Formats: sequence, structure tokens, C-alpha cells
Amino acid sequence: MREWLYDVFRERPWWMSATMIFCAYMAFVYLPWDLFVKPVAQDEEVWFGIELHGYLAKLAALPHWFVYAAAVYGFRRRRPWMAIWAPAYAAQIAFSIFVWKALEAGGGLTGLVVGLIPALPMAGLAFAYWSSRAYFAPRPLGLVPRYGDWALVTGASSGIGAELARQIAADGMSVVLSARRGDRLARLAEEIEKSSGVATRVVVADLSERDGQEALLAGVADLEIGLLVNNAGLGYQGRFDLQDGDRLRRLMAVNCEAPLVLTHALARRMCERGRGAVLFTGSAAGHQPLPLHAVYSATKAFDRMLGESLWGELRAANIDVTVLEPGSTQTEFQATAGELAHPGDPVEIVARTGLEALGQQPSVLVGWYNWLRANVASRLLTRPVAIHAAHAMMAEQTPEDMR
Ligand SMILES: NC(=O)c1ccc[n+]([C@@H]2O[C@H](COP(=O)([O-])OP(=O)(O)OC[C@H]3O[C@@H](n4cnc5c(N)ncnc54)[C@H](OP(=O)(O)O)[C@@H]3O)[C@@H](O)[C@H]2O)c1
Repeated sequence: MREWLYDVFRERPWWMSATMIFCAYMAFVYLPWDLFVKPVAQDEEVWFGIELHGYLAKLAALPHWFVYAAAVYGFRRRRPWMAIWAPAYAAQIAFSIFVWKALEAGGGLTGLVVGLIPALPMAGLAFAYWSSRAYFAPRPLGLVPRYGDWALVTGASSGIGAELARQIAADGMSVVLSARRGDRLARLAEEIEKSSGVATRVVVADLSERDGQEALLAGVADLEIGLLVNNAGLGYQGRFDLQDGDRLRRLMAVNCEAPLVLTHALARRMCERGRGAVLFTGSAAGHQPLPLHAVYSATKAFDRMLGESLWGELRAANIDVTVLEPGSTQTEFQATAGELAHPGDPVEIVARTGLEALGQQPSVLVGWYNWLRANVASRLLTRPVAIHAAHAMMAEQTPEDMR
């Protein structure tokens, strides 16, 4: 509990934390009561100084709830849009109070004074937020001072892994690139050396076999790997009984066994050095059972549980662990999985989301739509309803002969 409180309140000035607590009270205590318990006849809301009553007030409480809930999230996660949101909302309250109280006092000079007195503290808060907007600015990653000179990225020959490698290198870390397709890795290494000026090393390894996992560890034995990115992964869409058993076993080895083996070996050395980080590429699929992608969602649930548990365990040794959980992303994944084509997020956003969350939180879902889907499915729906809904969604992406 003490550590959780430390995580929630560290870095932020006390007055921002106080506003965050107030917003949390409004979003999770006052407004739910206001919306669902308070009699309509007694309801009143003030927006821009205009008083609303009855059903209009009830209706206006909904955007009010949204504003407070978003503010809690924005403060907690230090979102860049809060640089505008926080001063704008505080200014709106100051203006509302001023107009409301001035009109109540009958306007004129008396109204001006009566309105200004309660509005001034809120105007001061709006000014404080405007002056502190740099606090919400996107932060430079600063990976080298935090973790050291070398990162290892698995699954770097395409998609999210290649982009993670580019962004890590752009931040100044040298990168070991690993996958099975050596020609692709060599091309990426050349590109990264030219664009970022860091050193690279290519280690070709098949992570579905123990030999490949050992070969990768041997290939980096002489380096101090400060950041391990367990990104290599794949899935196969379609009915469980129609899948090839050995292919599924190898899928599990790449998605689960390899991250376990690599993390176990490299985190030990990070613990000895007293710093380091591990980024797992999990998936939104790890939040919910996915019929027709059953083994994949099970492996991603494993990655999520392993990563989040290690976040709690290794922090004492100054090791940051985060699970990056993308939804559908534009990579070769769909083709490998045998999915019918569907749209996805660009890899640039996915990789940036993961690297920004590293050291900040145990896991991060990419995009509010994936957050909503994962949380609605796992927290609000009953298991059978969530599974039936997921089945219907997965069926649309599955070729007919595999349904
Ligand atoms: N794209 C999505 O919609 C999505 C959504 C959520 C999560 N993810 C996760 O994101 C991660 C990266 O996938 P991606 O979307 O970037 O797909 P991708 O473009 O297909 O990349 C997968 C990477 O994994 C490597 N890989 C596959 N099998 C391997 C093996 N046996 N040994 C070593 N490397 C292997 C591939 O390299 P080689 O083929 O050269 O070996 C490739 O570099 C995966 O963990 C995936 O589960 C993807």
C-alpha cells in the first residue's frame, strides 16, 4: 500500500495531487450519487455561470462526470492534453463562479466584488496550471542514463519490434537485433547505424527451440544488456482442433518460454548491476478469452501476468518492468496468423506508448478503444457474455474453413 501511494503521488506537486484527489472524489463518489440517488427535484448544476435544474441538471451531470474522470486519468498518467485541459477547466470554474455569484448578488459593483472573491482562488489555480504546463509535456525517454548502453530486441525483423529498435536507438542506446530472418536484421542494423549513430549487433535465433534461446543468450554474453525487449511473438487464427499441434507448441515457446528464459537470465545480471528494464510485448488479447485465437490469448495472458508480477517483484532491485499491450496493429502479424485483413494502429504509436510507459506503470494498453474493450469485457460483462461477444468478433476475422 505504501509503495502504491508512493507511485501515485511521486513527482507531482502537492497542489496537483490535491486537485487529482478532488477530481477522484467528484468522479467516483459525488457525481454517481448526484446522478443515481439525488432526487431530480433537488438537482442543480452550474455551467458557465448558468444554473440548471431538474432533468436538465441531471443531463448536465454526465459531461461533468466525464470531465472529472478524464482529469483523474490525465493527472495520474501525466497526459500531454492536460496542459490545456487543466487550466481551461479551472478557468471555466472561475468564470462560472464569478457569473453565478455576481448575478445572485444582483450585478453592479456589489455583484462584481461578490463574484470576484470566490472566483479568484480558482483563477489562481488556472494560472498555476497554465504556468506548469511543461509538467505534462512529452518527456524524452532518457534510456541510456536509466538502463545503460545496450538493449536487446527480439522479433526485430519486422513490425513492432523493428520500430521499438528504431526508437530505442534514436534515444542513444545500442541495440542487439534478433529474429530468424538475418537479411532483414542486417538491413535494419545498417539503417539504424546510419540514422542514430549507435552500435548494433545481429543475432539470428529461432526462439521456438531451446537451442535458439541459448544461442541468443550466448550471442549477448559479453554485453551488459540494460533493456530487454521480449517482443517476438505470433498467433494462429482458427479453431483449436483444426490447428497443427506442433505449431501450437512452438507458438507457446516463442510467446512464453523464450521471454521467461531470456528474462530469467538477463534480469539476474541487471539485479547484480542494480539497474535495468524489461519490456514485454503482450496484447489486448491477454485480457480476455478469445475463441478462435485461444492459444494466442492464453500465451498473452501469461506474458501479462509474468510481466506485471515481475513489476512488483523487481522494483526493489531498481528494475523497471512493463507489459505493452497493443490491440490490432499494422504489421505482418495478421498474415502470419492467417487472419482476414482488418485495420490496426501504426507501429510508431504502439512502440512510443510502450517506451513511455516503461518505468511508469506495470502495463499499458494502446489506445482508449482497446482499454475500453479490455476493461468492459473483463470487469463489467459476465464471462459467458464476454466470451460469446469475443467469439462473434473473432469469427469475422477468421477464414470460413477455419471457423
Ligand atoms: N500486430 C498486432 O495486431 C499485435 C497486436 C497485439 C500484440 N502483438 C504482439 O506484438 C509482437 C510483435 O508482433 P508484430 O505485430 O510486430 O508481428 P510481426 O510483424 O509478424 O513480427 C513478429 C516478429 O517475431 C519474430 N518471430 C516470429 N517467430 C519467431 C521465432 N520462432 N523465433 C524468433 N523470432 C520469431 C519475427 O521474426 P522472424 O520471422 O524473422 O523470425 C518478427 O520479427 C508479438 O509478440 C505480437 O504477439 C501484435
